[in-house]
Amino acid sequence: MKKLWGGRFTKSAEEWVDEFGASISFDQELMLEDIEGSLAHVNMLASSGILSKEECGQIVKGLLSLKEKAERNELEFSVKMEDIHLNLESMLIDEIGPVGGKLHTGRSRNDQVATDVHLYLRKKVEEIIVLIAEMQAAIVQQAEKHVETIVPGYTHLQRAQPISFAHHLMAYFWMLERDKQRFKENGTRINKSPLGAGALAGTTFPINRAYSAELLGFGSIYENSLDAVSDRDFIIEFLSNSSMLMMHLSRFAEEIILWCSQEFQFIELDDAFSTGSSIMPQKKNPDMAELIRGKTGRVYGNLFGLLTVLKGLPLAYNKDMQEDKEGMFDTVKTVTGSLKIFAGMVSSMKVRTENMEKAVKTDFSNATELADYLAGKGMPFRQAHEVVGQLVLSCIQKDCYLADLSIGDFKQASELFEEDIYNALEPYQAVKRRNSAGGTGFEQVKQALAKAKSLLAGE
Ligand code: ARG
Repeated sequence: MKKLWGGRFTKSAEEWVDEFGASISFDQELMLEDIEGSLAHVNMLASSGILSKEECGQIVKGLLSLKEKAERNELEFSVKMEDIHLNLESMLIDEIGPVGGKLHTGRSRNDQVATDVHLYLRKKVEEIIVLIAEMQAAIVQQAEKHVETIVPGYTHLQRAQPISFAHHLMAYFWMLERDKQRFKENGTRINKSPLGAGALAGTTFPINRAYSAELLGFGSIYENSLDAVSDRDFIIEFLSNSSMLMMHLSRFAEEIILWCSQEFQFIELDDAFSTGSSIMPQKKNPDMAELIRGKTGRVYGNLFGLLTVLKGLPLAYNKDMQEDKEGMFDTVKTVTGSLKIFAGMVSSMKVRTENMEKAVKTDFSNATELADYLAGKGMPFRQAHEVVGQLVLSCIQKDCYLADLSIGDFKQASELFEEDIYNALEPYQAVKRRNSAGGTGFEQVKQALAKAKSLLAGE
């Protein structure tokens, strides 16, 4: 098979060398974007008088027929033709004859591939934004049921202060909100057309870049032709945003894994998101959460892979840049899959409120209440902290909890304690009173939920 660029060559590479250089095994993912880019390019060529209307008509017809076949997955690609661009161009020539060879007028594969990736990633980022919103909705829906469900809040994975379970869940809502904003920002930089930058220097043909950009729905064009074909920042930004998102999902996954352990028993995952063990009949493993945590690693790897590929590359295009795609495709697949699984896992999980309730009653996470109580009555907080620390110590020695102490015990520690101390020690009260902005108090949590819902509704 003759190469489309074969003119200056006297012999062809051996098959295994071709195979090493080819990207068709993975860049066929871009087939529809490549056709879309070509359609815009050829229409621009005709409208600028570079190709005749008839030539354009023939090429458009050929491209549309390839598009139909592509949509039906009927195209058969060849490694000999290296990549998606050359495969489609040679198929076009086979389909409509030599006039197909006019498509590449005033264009290079360098601006062509950049255009394809911009089109592809623009679409994928939009899909990811929708999936993030769906996961946020799943969180809100679960949180709404648990505003008044009290759980221990942790720092250092030690029981710290009781909080509303909804408040804990909603922390992830806001992380995802920032992720969504980052992808939206990313989208504005993706929405730029490199088409018409040529190989690196622009072209002698009187092309109209603004017109092809408009046909492809791009908001603007790259200002500099070298930058247009060399830029992969928008992919790095995508990989970086994805890494941050996966880091958030991974933290959430870790908590889910903890919560459904025998030690916590705070939630139970739906059978649909769990697996069993081939040897231990009692096991119900949170595999999906573990996998999301694990897959975070490959997304970080993809980010570092591309940063490293680009570091030290001279302008403009270098073949190294073909390495931008697999990590990007892999990240798209990983992120979309993880978000879908996570949303399902969150909305179907069973919350074991009785165990959460038991947990907050059998710990010292209400100790801050005592210190705040004393400080509220005028004792300097530092001193109150010391008094309560000693009460905790005496409980540990007596093997009981703060609420088990008698009023006499309290009074002995400080005369400021009154009978109402028992009410203050109730975890429910402790949560309810934390009504500072953004705190876990029920009023605050309800307000946050209302705000979250209006954000999701696009208000
Ligand atoms: N398959 C190539 C890539 O993905 C397309 C661009 C090739 N350009 C070139 N001058 N060899 O990067």
